Amino acid sequence: MNLDADSWVLGADYAAAPTCATCHMSGHSKNGGRVTHDPGERISWTNRPPVSRVMDTDAEHRIVTASDPAERGVLIHDSADSKRSRMKNVCSNCHTPAYIDAFYVQYDDLVVLYNEKFAKPGQAIMEALLREGLRTPTQFDDEIEWTWFYLWHHEGRRARHGASMMAPDYTHWHGMYEVAERFYMELIPQAREMIAHGAQSGHDAAAAHVGDVVDSILARPEHKWFSEGAAEQAERIQQEMQRRYGPAAAPLPETGGTTR
Ligand code: HEC
Ligand code: HEC
Repeated sequence: MNLDADSWVLGADYAAAPTCATCHMSGHSKNGGRVTHDPGERISWTNRPPVSRVMDTDAEHRIVTASDPAERGVLIHDSADSKRSRMKNVCSNCHTPAYIDAFYVQYDDLVVLYNEKFAKPGQAIMEALLREGLRTPTQFDDEIEWTWFYLWHHEGRRARHGASMMAPDYTHWHGMYEVAERFYMELIPQAREMIAHGAQSGHDAAAAHVGDVVDSILARPEHKWFSEGAAEQAERIQQEMQRRYGPAAAPLPETGGTTR
């Protein structure tokens, strides 16, 4: 990697493998060797908040939240697309365009899946509990506040950062697998327990409102299996695996066939 060289421009002085600096800060042969000390210049999503956001930023580097396209057009000073193009230019010193585009398809799909299936629903449940007075505004005095923090801050960030930096094990086993377990096995049962307590202690209307939020989330197609079972989907997956890999492939999960 020519680390002792005075000049360290990707594509000119080295091309073996990238470091953090290569991708986030260093100059390269396709940007005239210009170094930046603003890592945000090449980042299109922020994966730090509970729900990831697209990094269309204004002149003060703040995320533009306006939804009206005309208003956005005026406010956006540096778009997420421009930031992404700058990063793609770095990658393109070592990879072909199709390879880089395929990476970004997978990355976007993962972040959107996390956002839509778990993060926005989790946030809606937490907001409903607060609004209806079933949890206190004090952070971390209710068990569910720890659960939610683990879901987005630990596991959800691991999944998203894993996907953003080509780490499949972090994306799945230390990421989305744990997000899903936390959501179905802790967040939902704890919310239901709080709803039941609310109803028992005379807060019927509040309990019913939060109950509606939880029920409507679990009624969506992507969550339906949780209450209704997934025998049909499992059958379809098994058929597809056998079509691809032959009759011995993919026993159903109940038979212990899928492990890491
Ligand atoms: C192969 C290039 C590459 C390398 C090497 C790399 N990164 Fe990244 N990093 C990325 C990409 C791509 C993203 C996601 C960019 C986007 O959102 O468009 C990212 C995202 C991040 C983020 C997330 C920022 C946020 O707000 O969500 C952090 C933090 C980060 N990188 C730190 C590091 C550190 C520290 C290292 C070295 C240990 C490193 N990166 C190495 C390409 C790289
Ligand atoms: C300095 C050259 C260099 C740069 C810059 C670079 N890569 Fe790579 N990348 C490599 C090499 C070399 C490998 C193969 C590592 C191996 O075979 O173990 C690799 C592997 C990968 C992989 C496969 C990882 C896996 O688990 O199999 C992906 C995806 C990838 N790079 C995407 C990117 C993206 C996206 C960028 C820009 C954000 C980028 N790379 C920037 C050199 C680079």
